[in-house]
Amino acid sequence: MSKAWKKLDKHAKSIKRTTLRELFAADSNRVDKFTMQAVDLRFDFSKHLINEKTLELLQELATKQKVADGVQAMLRGDKINITENRSVLHTALRLPKNAELVVDGVDVVSQVHEVLERMEAFADAVREGRFLGSTGKAINTVINIGIGGSDLGPVMAFEALKAYSKRDLVFKFVSNVDGADIHEALIGVDPETTLFIVASKTFTTSETMTNANTAKQWMAEQLGDAFNPAAHFAALSTNAQRVAEFGVDSANVFGFWDWVGGRFSMESAIGLSLMIAIGPENYRSLLSGFNEMDEYLVSEPIESNAIYTMALLSIWYRNFWDAQTSAVLPYDNYLKRFPAYLQQMLMESNGKSVRIDGKAVKHETSPIYWGEPGTNGQHSFHQLLHQGTTLVPVDFLVAVNPITSIGNHHDLLLANVFAQASVLAFGKTLDEVIADGTAPELAPHKVMPGSRPSTLIMYPQLTPSVLGQLIALYEHITLIQGLIWQVASFDQWG
Ligand code: F6P
Repeated sequence: MSKAWKKLDKHAKSIKRTTLRELFAADSNRVDKFTMQAVDLRFDFSKHLINEKTLELLQELATKQKVADGVQAMLRGDKINITENRSVLHTALRLPKNAELVVDGVDVVSQVHEVLERMEAFADAVREGRFLGSTGKAINTVINIGIGGSDLGPVMAFEALKAYSKRDLVFKFVSNVDGADIHEALIGVDPETTLFIVASKTFTTSETMTNANTAKQWMAEQLGDAFNPAAHFAALSTNAQRVAEFGVDSANVFGFWDWVGGRFSMESAIGLSLMIAIGPENYRSLLSGFNEMDEYLVSEPIESNAIYTMALLSIWYRNFWDAQTSAVLPYDNYLKRFPAYLQQMLMESNGKSVRIDGKAVKHETSPIYWGEPGTNGQHSFHQLLHQGTTLVPVDFLVAVNPITSIGNHHDLLLANVFAQASVLAFGKTLDEVIADGTAPELAPHKVMPGSRPSTLIMYPQLTPSVLGQLIALYEHITLIQGLIWQVASFDQWG
């Protein structure tokens, strides 16, 4: 155990005797002190079981473990994915065109923008009805076939940005090898006007290839001699040879590179279905949001850096409070698939028990991430969050302004998220329950212990840029966690 780790261990023992009520009572400036801003995201960390010393010690841990050096190594393209001897460069996917990044003698930025521009031309052709099916009719249905990072990112982002999508195009996502998935997706679909996008980094994944072959066979059966695969199939992959063997016209093939991990590939060619849905301009704005967060990560000092703070708080609860799970609760229905997307990113990356040097880890690694949108969760698992025996740190996400303003819905949504964070933190004592008029024999059942931590993340509105910022936030949390735990975050041999 390192010195920094031991200090945190000792500090945790002392702070465990203090409640969040006491921490707030001792410092009237607590909310201001623990509020941080990262681009458009505002973080309220005041309802955490911490004081200034906690953050200092966590920052000391990050400094001792040279986390900032690890971040720089990733950004400049060092082969930090050592078990696969690869760079990890999803951040290059959102660099502006005039940026410079040369890795192994290759100008990565121009490669990225060449593919982006081809994607844009393709997306525009579909959106404007110029991309025609075998019988000369314009495409009106897009079905993305992929799994893991080739599905979770596209479907999450499509749901998140649905309000920006072209509503006369229908989008479907097929992932499961269970035939029920593609069977249901094909119901009511007109083969003459359908485009399948086969998304697979490797183009060997059994689920995806099974679904892609079924789709091809279905099209051939439906369209007979008229079927022209070039008019109905596109492919997103790093494996040009396998794509050619499957028979996708090279004009409809969009590549990416081995330095893009599947779970970090959402804004590579894998984002084609999203780009068709929201249009190239919104897609560019999504990329800028990502990039702004990347720049914030390295430019903001660690003491006021919200990304570092969130990552270090996850270490605090996992390793010093033994929190086995962590909940991500978007009070934003458009983000309903965000927790599922994060599960792959965080748990496939840091669900490891061996360190990067091949030795067993000395402490716990990734918690189990889970979540559902609020307020639905309030009528389901919040019982356990408030009164259960397990400590579950929560990330609440909410927009200040709704995309669609209907009556008082958004006021109610905001009131709910603030109330949840507040009751988790401050609870309700036996005396307060009795003072509210509850009979003494019933009162213990209504007590809320409180001192349950949460971060409140607020953003002005769920725009493409804000979505990019939110994704980049959790990507960098994943990176920092891995650097602290010293695991190989960017492989997935399991
Ligand atoms: O399950 C492992 C995994 O490799 C994920 O990391 C990846 O996102 C998914 O499978 C799909 O892989 P591919 O894009 O190569 O089909």
